[in-house]
Order: sequence, then C-alpha cells, then structure tokens
Amino acid sequence: MKDFSEIKEQVKAKIAEVKNGAQLSEFWQSYLGKTGVISGLMKEMKSVPPEEKPLFGKAVNEVREWAQGLYSEKQAEIKRIELEQRYERESVDVTMPALKRKPGNLHPLTLVKQQMIEVFAGMGFEIAEYPEIEDDDHNFTRLNVLKDHPSRDMQDTFWLTEDLLLRTHTSPGQIRTMDREKPPIKVLIPGKVFRSDSDATHSPMFMQMEGLVVDKGITLCDLQGMLDQFVRQIFGDGAKTRLRPSYFPFTEPSVEVDVSCFECGGKGCSLCKGTGWIEVLGGGVVNKKVLENCGIDPEVYSGLAFGIGIERITMLKYGITNMGMFFANDMDFLEQFKA
Ligand code: DAH
Repeated sequence: MKDFSEIKEQVKAKIAEVKNGAQLSEFWQSYLGKTGVISGLMKEMKSVPPEEKPLFGKAVNEVREWAQGLYSEKQAEIKRIELEQRYERESVDVTMPALKRKPGNLHPLTLVKQQMIEVFAGMGFEIAEYPEIEDDDHNFTRLNVLKDHPSRDMQDTFWLTEDLLLRTHTSPGQIRTMDREKPPIKVLIPGKVFRSDSDATHSPMFMQMEGLVVDKGITLCDLQGMLDQFVRQIFGDGAKTRLRPSYFPFTEPSVEVDVSCFECGGKGCSLCKGTGWIEVLGGGVVNKKVLENCGIDPEVYSGLAFGIGIERITMLKYGITNMGMFFANDMDFLEQFKA
C-alpha cells in the first residue's frame, strides 16, 4: 500500500504559502486540477494488483477530499482577508477636514440692478419685463422716433428682418405697458438692450432700467424728486441732481440728469472731468404724441419717463473704468462685489 504522507506534507506546505486568490488557483491546478498531482495518483491504479484496487482508490479519494478541505478553508480565509482589505481601502476618514467651498456672490450688475429696483419699488413702482426682440413700431415709430431719425441708422441697430430688431433701449416697454394698462401707471422696466457699438465704455449688449409714470398732473418736478431720492440711495446722502435740457423724441421737454460728483463732492476731479457733475441718465415729460399713440388723452393725463444705464451706474459706483470687465468672467474682479 502506497504511503501518501509525502504528498500530504507537500500539500500542507504549499497551502500554507498561499496568500491570495491567484496563488490559490495555482494551488488548485498543481494538486486538484485535471493535470494535478492528486489526479495523477489515479493513473497509478494500473499498476496496483486487482485485489488492492478498491483500497487504493479509497485512499486516493481521501487524500483528494482532505486537500479539497484545505483548499476550501484557504478560500474562505482569503475572501475574508480581501474583504477586510477592501474595507480598509474604501473607508472614509470622517475626521479629515472638508474641502473648502467659497460661497459665490452676485455679479456687480445684478447687485446694482437689484439695489435700483429696491429704491424704485420703495416709491411704489411695479416691475415689468418685455421681449428683447422688438418690432420697428414699438422700438421706434410709436415712441415718435421718425423714419429718418439717426438712431435708426444701421450702425446702431441690430436688425433681424426688415421689421424685427434687437431692442435698442427699454423704452418700447413704455408702449407695451400703456397698451396693457390704463393710468395711473407707475412701472419700472429693467432689461437687456443691444446696439452695434463696442469700446471701453460701450458694449453691444448692456442693461437699462426704464421708468414710466402716467397720471393726472405729473410734471418734471415729480421726475426730479424721484431721481433725487434715487441718487441719494445709490450714491450716498450728499448726492444732488441737476437737470440739463436735452432732446429725446419721446419726451418733451427732455432732460439729461447729472449727479454731483461723489468722488470730490463737486470741487472737480478726474472722475467728473473737473466739472463737479456726472451725467447719469436721460428723461423728461412723456411726449403728448406718445400718449396719443397709446390711446391716452394728453389733455387729461401727463407722464414722466426716464432711462438709466445700469452698467454706467455700476461703473460710477465702484470706479470701474472698462466696461469689458463686466463680461470677462475674471474671478479676481468678480469676487470683490460681496453684498
Ligand atoms: N431710451 C433712451 C436711450 O436709450 C433713454 C431715455 C431717455 C429713456 C429719455 C427715457 C427718456 O424714458 O425719457 O438713450
């Protein structure tokens, strides 16, 4: 009877060396696989005398089962170790400091736009928004901008078709409001406007805020009173306004509004170019023709209107000299405007 103790010693030594799945399957192939050492023992059956064959076969089977037992134990052990290693690898260190996330802040134009809205909302204005694509009628004709007016020039207006255009100002919102509502009207119309113009102080897209008040007995004094209030809240208590005569087709009389220079207090500096005053907006008494164009009787009602450039107010408020900074997405610039 053959003694398998040598093979068993070998198997014990080998299995003890197995440390991972790859080595384990190597072990299987060497001993338990079809070409392995234990399977090889069966081939020796030929040379065993017939009466001993059953015993021999039983003994080989016992060795096989014993080796399989060792294999299964090792397999379970490796599984457990690999799982532990995986837990170790994938564990989260809850005491580790978190990545710092900087809170964002509003764009300076959004910030100033909101401040402006707050000021006028405080005076009882409602907010309205209208389409950025307009037609000739609303953008020009009904605002009394006649066919040969220079602001219709191809250089200024982005025409989309013969009749449609990107609005060049928020003033068409006046017409749209008066078409929709009857006086008393007190509306503020913020929005993007477009002109074919680009340099340090002009951008092809910029923002305006239009104001319109229509009621009985509205005069230029009401305009000045509201704008006084506006500039004091935006530029500080010391800020004063001054009206200068001007011309717009949709207002009569028309004014340009200056604010006393908040940098030098009116003495004259580089910001106000030595004049002590800075131009901030245009406005006036709504032209009777415009009221008529909207079916409002100018003998009963009168109105005031104004248009403010939001970029311009923001540049003045923060001392920004290049309009391009608003659109450059420069984080160092943008992060300075915490509310
Ligand atoms: N729409 C004018 C512009 O874009 C600004 C303006 C001036 C608006 C006078 C008004 C106004 O409502 O009364 O230049």
